[in-house]
Amino acid sequence: MRIILLGAPGAGKGTQAQFLMGKYGIPQISTGDMLRSAIKAGTEMGLAAKKVMDEGKLVSDDIIIGLVKERIAQDDCKDGFLLDGFPRTIPQADAMKEAGVAVDHVIEFDVPDDVIVDRMGGRRVHPASGRVYHVVYNPPKEEGKDDVTGEELIIRDDDKEETVRARLGIYHEQTQPLVDYYSAEAEAGNCAYHKLDGTQPVETVSQQLGELLG
Ligand code: AP5
Ligand code: ZN
Repeated sequence: MRIILLGAPGAGKGTQAQFLMGKYGIPQISTGDMLRSAIKAGTEMGLAAKKVMDEGKLVSDDIIIGLVKERIAQDDCKDGFLLDGFPRTIPQADAMKEAGVAVDHVIEFDVPDDVIVDRMGGRRVHPASGRVYHVVYNPPKEEGKDDVTGEELIIRDDDKEETVRARLGIYHEQTQPLVDYYSAEAEAGNCAYHKLDGTQPVETVSQQLGELLG
């Protein structure tokens, strides 16, 4: 199963990706997590990406398309994958199509901007696994610690309110056009398109996802 998770920053893509990985045994491809790993490793690409990410802007299509193509070609992706945070621009979606990468389901998480800003202030992440928590809405068992490894949770550098607002602006401008793009793909019979209310509790969204994917 090949799935695209579409939605604003903080809409719950990473949270539901963890659920879907567990349920369907397919890998999560999060371009944001890949970039953050490159930053941590101190690669040249990572250093260049950090500046852009800290401003809430998008990394160049060429770099991102290259990263994703390389990742999708790996063995564990041959039975499917979950794209989290990609594609994010029309050129990225076109590049996928031109590369012959078909998609089965596109899932849009609909969440208003004011809910997003509230969520981001309480987000905590475990970078090594991609597990995501919220101090109120999805707290870890032990405060500040990952449930599985017990390692420290961190606050992402781009979760400052000012950066979150910049990211939301970029989302509406550059990523939201993909809603029409994939709705048209679905009408042409190339994939299924589902829109979910992402303001519901985490478990409710997961349950709806399970029902619609079967
Ligand atoms: P990326 O890491 O992809 O960030 P994003 O899209 O901005 O999305 P987030 O990870 O912030 O949110 P999410 O939807 O995963 O929400 P989450 O589940 O964590 O990208 C970061 C940066 O990298 C970009 O700004 C860009 O610079 C660059 N980049 C990445 N991909 C790129 C690309 N393709 N092209 C160009 N540049 C790219 O949830 C958020 C919080 O809410 C958590 O605390 C969670 O616990 C909580 N929560 C989740 N669901 C619920 C719920 N239902 N109810 C209550 N709380 C909830
Ligand atoms: Zn995420």
